[in-house]
Amino acid sequence: MDTRKNFSAEKLVSDSEYSSLNELSLSGWLDYHQRQVVFEQVSWMGIPTLKNVLDLWIYQELIVKIKPDWIVEMGSFQGGSTLYLAQILENIGSGRVLSIDIDHSQFKATHPRINKLTGSTQDAGIINQVFRQCSAGKVMIIHDADHTEAMVLADLHSYADLVSKDSYFIVEDGIVDLFAPGTLLGDVMGGPGPLPAIREFIKTDPRFIIDRQCERYQLTYNPNGYLKKIQ
Ligand SMILES: C[S@@+](CC[C@H](N)C(=O)[O-])C[C@H]1O[C@@H](n2cnc3c(N)ncnc32)[C@H](O)[C@@H]1O
Repeated sequence: MDTRKNFSAEKLVSDSEYSSLNELSLSGWLDYHQRQVVFEQVSWMGIPTLKNVLDLWIYQELIVKIKPDWIVEMGSFQGGSTLYLAQILENIGSGRVLSIDIDHSQFKATHPRINKLTGSTQDAGIINQVFRQCSAGKVMIIHDADHTEAMVLADLHSYADLVSKDSYFIVEDGIVDLFAPGTLLGDVMGGPGPLPAIREFIKTDPRFIIDRQCERYQLTYNPNGYLKKIQ
């Protein structure tokens, strides 16, 4: 099936078209989703949200289980994901989101449980501020900022101490490293991304394990990216 083909929401889909849709491989679906859906057609409460929604469902399950005092979100963009996290916290009645971005000029989310922090995740002042603000509580981190291997690895090392035992450091978008150059997902980064950073980090920090249970829907953008702190 040609994943570049546009799907029309209005068009009646024939049985044979459904059959060919059903034959899509996981990589075909990921290519279709990235090409036609994620950058323009995923939103939460009207705000663009750059996520595979199956991953958001897993986040909801983890948040309800862990009940974090702080979710540190690295990479806010327009704030769709920030608002999603804040509203889940609102539903369970506790916790706040601290959302970091180098540029909040496009940020649209407003919610009493959201704190914004503007600057680079690798800025020493930002790192200090995040530790000062969140250290006393139970912390979960979601990394969706600079996805280059070196930056992801640096962020993992800088913030690993902040994650609470039995909570998670979620590293997004390792999927880009599973696609060959020349394919859409393979060309997103133009170089190594989150996956080699995760593999390097996990070798050196035995406090974390990769929780493959969080990948059980298979269609995840975060392969090997759900890092659970076990000690
Ligand atoms: C993929 S977007 C985030 C999408 C958002 N989490 C969502 O799901 O809708 C990545 C964001 O990371 C920000 N960013 C890039 N490098 C960064 C850095 N070093 N520190 C903080 N933010 C960074 C970019 O400005 C951009 O808004």
